[in-house]
Amino acid sequence: MLHFEVNKESCTQCGMCVADCPARIIVMAKDGFPSIAVEKESICYRCEHCLAICPGGSISILGLKASDSLPLDGGYPDPVELETLIKGRRSVRSYKSENLDPALFQQLLDVAWHAPTGVNSRQVRFTVLDDKEKVAELRDEVMAGLVRLAKEGMLPKGKEFYTRFVDLWEKHKVDILFRHAPHLLITSAPKHVACPTQDCLIAMSYFELYAQSNGVGTLWNGLAKGAINDLLPETRERLGIPDDHVFGYVMSFGMPAVHYARTVQHREAIIHRAL
Ligand SMILES: Cc1cc2nc3c(=O)[nH]c(=O)nc-3n(C[C@H](O)[C@H](O)[C@H](O)COP(=O)(O)O)c2cc1C
Repeated sequence: MLHFEVNKESCTQCGMCVADCPARIIVMAKDGFPSIAVEKESICYRCEHCLAICPGGSISILGLKASDSLPLDGGYPDPVELETLIKGRRSVRSYKSENLDPALFQQLLDVAWHAPTGVNSRQVRFTVLDDKEKVAELRDEVMAGLVRLAKEGMLPKGKEFYTRFVDLWEKHKVDILFRHAPHLLITSAPKHVACPTQDCLIAMSYFELYAQSNGVGTLWNGLAKGAINDLLPETRERLGIPDDHVFGYVMSFGMPAVHYARTVQHREAIIHRAL
């Protein structure tokens, strides 16, 4: 049940909800007000565009009230601010040894949850390590697993370089894998949804930018992904990543112990203007 409801007192019958519905299931009913036929309800994307576009907030769907949405009256960051964020975002490899404020931690995930997903499936799962001790335990487990694989000559061809990181950890307590970050985010999504890999990566990109706008450092962590997902499946299982999920990516994060004074300069974009 969609519970598509229209406040007939405030609805101006402008038809914007009808025109914007991606599934094209909203029609103007005989009484002149928007409506969705019961037999069309299953086609709904649940995207809430009708609720979002209605100027007067006259539409409620899925039990959601327009008044509970964030109003969009010029509240976007200006383009220069966004450009500065995109160009100023850096991979952070040095962190303060402190957990994030739990409210901020939750806020980062709640906002990233608004990233788009294919067919609006919204099935991305955020597996998080919310305490630095948990990341330290994971690091020890991963390092021990890698030592075992190296000793048994079981590191796959091309992955022998992990031995160097284990050595650095064991001899000098230098952590190239997790970079002493207090937190870890893993995205995964059910294989059966339309775009599981893309959904995971988009959610993580949104997470990263929002985190960095809050002064939180982040690092796309391909080394940890390779170790957890490819080399040590028992660790993937122990972390509770379901078997029927595509493993999206791993991101380390926490309060940075570095500050970048300026952006980098990426020179010209590679652009192909097709005929
Ligand atoms: C998909 C992906 C995987 C990455 N994996 C790692 C990693 O395992 N370890 C690491 O130190 N940096 C990793 N990075 C960070 C890149 O090295 C970094 O983005 C690049 O050097 C440019 O630096 P910047 O992010 O500060 O602009 C990764 C980045 C991406 C996008």
